[in-house]
Amino acid sequence: MNPNLKQIEHWNGPAGKLWASHCGRNEYRLEHVQRALMEFAAPEPGMDVLDIGCGCGLTTLALAEAVSPGSVTGLDVSAPMLEAARAAALEAGLEVQFVETDASIHPFRPEFDLVFSRFGVMFFADPVAAFANIRSALKPGGRLAFACWRAQADNPWTDAPYQAALDLLPPQEKQDPHAPGQFSFADGGHMKNVLTRAGFAQIRIESCDVPVNMGRNADEAAEEAMNRGALDRATADLDEPTRAKILARVREVMARYATPEGVSPPGSIWLVSARN
Ligand SMILES: C[S@@+](CC[C@H](N)C(=O)[O-])C[C@H]1O[C@@H](n2cnc3c(N)ncnc32)[C@H](O)[C@@H]1O
Repeated sequence: MNPNLKQIEHWNGPAGKLWASHCGRNEYRLEHVQRALMEFAAPEPGMDVLDIGCGCGLTTLALAEAVSPGSVTGLDVSAPMLEAARAAALEAGLEVQFVETDASIHPFRPEFDLVFSRFGVMFFADPVAAFANIRSALKPGGRLAFACWRAQADNPWTDAPYQAALDLLPPQEKQDPHAPGQFSFADGGHMKNVLTRAGFAQIRIESCDVPVNMGRNADEAAEEAMNRGALDRATADLDEPTRAKILARVREVMARYATPEGVSPPGSIWLVSARN
């Protein structure tokens, strides 16, 4: 059995459908991450690029514009998100290939100059085996460049609403910090160890602080916070009155970060690169 089955079901279930229906909102939320990651990854015209966990494909399209006349392939396990990605490519009139497959076991050939990912590599059950497989997609000397979240505590966009709701949530099980999920690479030492064991060289890990655009106003930002990360999971089985109480508190928290341009609490990511 594929050890990533639970994640594959997750990204094809309600979570994947929610992401697929919120593509535009997601790009707005991650605008600053995208800018920092593109600068860090530095795709160049003529390159052949693989976008792992490409989701709704907007990173894939940005890469296609940057590397033209090179090629870009987006890869993901989520059928609903890939459907949104194909529609976006059609609308943009850009030639990209999207493949529905699990990056940890896909039979790659060494055909890419750059393997890129924005938050698509934190969900592998066996990260060492997955990254070793991903490495096989790189040409000799090719480069891996990705972004992943640092610890939840370093990300007030999700931690501040979570802390505000904590006493209203059911008792939270202690999570394995390295288990597949949003924060599985929060520990930079662990991540470096995974990449080293997967055979990567010249590993570079940079911390980068970025605002996260949660919404144009506190109401929109509170709704976004309820649908993301820790709070989404923790509130899934709660009754409506409790959810309403939590939403009111989350709105209050988000209002503290409001500016005339929108609600953008701080976030913090790792920018990671390595060579084959
Ligand atoms: C947090 S989302 C990020 C999506 C997109 N890169 C973005 O930034 O908007 C994580 C993505 O990784 C994909 N994913 C998870 N496990 C995967 C795997 N084993 N192989 C390929 N994609 C995977 C999910 O389906 C999802 O689209």
